[in-house]
Amino acid sequence: MVRQHVNPLSRFYQLPRPLPPPAELFAQPALPLHLDIGAARGRFLLAMAQAEPLWNHLGLEIRRPLVEAAEADRLALELGNLRYLFGNANVSLECWLKALPPGLLQRVTIQFPDPWFKKKHHKRRVLQPELVLALADALAEGLALFVQSDVLAVIEPMVAVIEASGCFERPADDARPWREHNPLPVPTERERHVLAQGLPVYRVLYRRNGQPPPPLAELQQHVAVTLEQNPEAADNPASDLATP
Ligand SMILES: C[S@@+](CC[C@H](N)C(=O)[O-])C[C@H]1O[C@@H](n2cnc3c(N)ncnc32)[C@H](O)[C@@H]1O
Repeated sequence: MVRQHVNPLSRFYQLPRPLPPPAELFAQPALPLHLDIGAARGRFLLAMAQAEPLWNHLGLEIRRPLVEAAEADRLALELGNLRYLFGNANVSLECWLKALPPGLLQRVTIQFPDPWFKKKHHKRRVLQPELVLALADALAEGLALFVQSDVLAVIEPMVAVIEASGCFERPADDARPWREHNPLPVPTERERHVLAQGLPVYRVLYRRNGQPPPPLAELQQHVAVTLEQNPEAADNPASDLATP
């Protein structure tokens, strides 16, 4: 049985994992790269790889059994533009992004991340200030960072930290506060589940602007002040086990 959640801060998940070179990952390593953080069982990314054969798609997932199952599907379908890797985004990704050839990474998605509702568990959430800065470093101007969630108490702090970085902007004509439609051709598993129940999804498509990333301490301070001013966003008494 696959565990529903793992604690990304536990010692087991602190070991950095290496990123194989693109030529070992993909049949055509120079294609633009889409990175999906928290790829779970990988069905979204598999459909994306089929829908967008001129992109490479890389799924990062912390639950190893899901990665193994997703890799088995990919191998069975002989998809050369798709890979899933086991790892903790908050431990390995910064190095992975630095190791990629410049210009390869073209799009990042973080979709329906684990909510970790309790305040004392917020540091387990995947989109930490360090990760925002690593993404800002890795994405060239104009490139996309797409985030979505069905939980306002999760997406609002994500938006807060992304916007506090000053490195990402929404297109001027985009719906606010949330985009109605997913800009990608494929919904994720969690997205299908939420939409089938008639529940809302909160989405933002960001584009990297030309601003240099701020120092980490400055971003952390900015986020702390925002959460102090808006204490409801900082805590939620609901169970941490809210996602299927
Ligand atoms: C709620 S699921 C959503 C899966 C998928 N994106 C979707 O929308 O259907 C979030 C996924 O992120 C993974 N995850 C959580 N923290 C992570 C981390 N630090 N690094 C990599 N994956 C992580 C979880 O194991 C889980 O599979």
